[in-house]
Amino acid sequence: MHIHFNNILRATALLLLAVASPEFCHAEEKENGAAIYQRTCVACHGEKGAGNLLLKSPPIAGLPEWYVTLQLGRFRDGHRGSHPEDIPGQQMAAIAKILKAEDIATLSLHVSGMQPIPPEPSDAGDREKGKVFFIENCAECHRFNATGEQAFRSPPLASFPAWYLRDQFGKFQNGQRGADEKDEDGTKMKIIACGGVTESDISDIIAYITSLAQE
Ligand code: HEC
Ligand code: HEC
Repeated sequence: MHIHFNNILRATALLLLAVASPEFCHAEEKENGAAIYQRTCVACHGEKGAGNLLLKSPPIAGLPEWYVTLQLGRFRDGHRGSHPEDIPGQQMAAIAKILKAEDIATLSLHVSGMQPIPPEPSDAGDREKGKVFFIENCAECHRFNATGEQAFRSPPLASFPAWYLRDQFGKFQNGQRGADEKDEDGTKMKIIACGGVTESDISDIIAYITSLAQE
């Protein structure tokens, strides 16, 4: 009878541990991610993940976990940041290549939990025209209000400043990003960027996208 009671106690304790552990692991992952971020990412992306225009490093705070994981993997496997003229991309790729798979997982969780920082709105283009253009040509993948769509691996865009959106769009156009056929997601975006989008269309789209976070 005594042994039986002990067994029940032990089983209950195990059950409680099993129920409690997912949350426990999650908290532990977050802490590791913060430590790696502090050591490896702060120099370029900043304490709060706000980025740094001088270093061409984008704000990353609050990007979805899946997208951060995908991009770190992309830099690491050479699908992004391997073009000889893409200096900012190469700098980021050098960092990604020293990360272990488990670092990428905990870092992605940490970055996605950071508070997003709204960009400065851009007045360089026509916001209303940009909205029409975006809905017709971009929303299919990036969704209305540019909130992104994990199923298409299309990122949300509203947290990026004008300079970063312009740079990345330009990289898809000039072959610094999405040029490798094996890079399916990048190739999709490259086809769009090269499909007759003019400089003034880009300015309009950017005026629209950077206005979204203000609303
Ligand atoms: C030496 C400076 C530098 C360091 C250190 C650095 N980055 Fe970057 N990061 C960049 C630059 C520059 C880019 C933009 C590359 C480009 O233009 O394609 C970038 C891009 C990114 C992107 C892609 C964002 C997007 O919208 O596609 C992610 C995610 C990212 N960095 C995460 C990290 C993480 C996490 C760390 C720490 C492990 C880190 N970075 C360390 C400079 C840096
Ligand atoms: C067919 C789907 C599709 C359409 C349509 C599309 N995109 Fe994309 N876009 C993507 C995917 C997928 C990515 C991520 C590519 C990667 O991982 O390298 C992306 C990435 C981007 C990026 C880089 C973001 C970052 O964090 O670095 C920008 C900027 C962008 N798209 C703008 C646009 C604009 C503007 C339009 C409309 C003119 C558009 N996209 C239309 C699928 C699409």
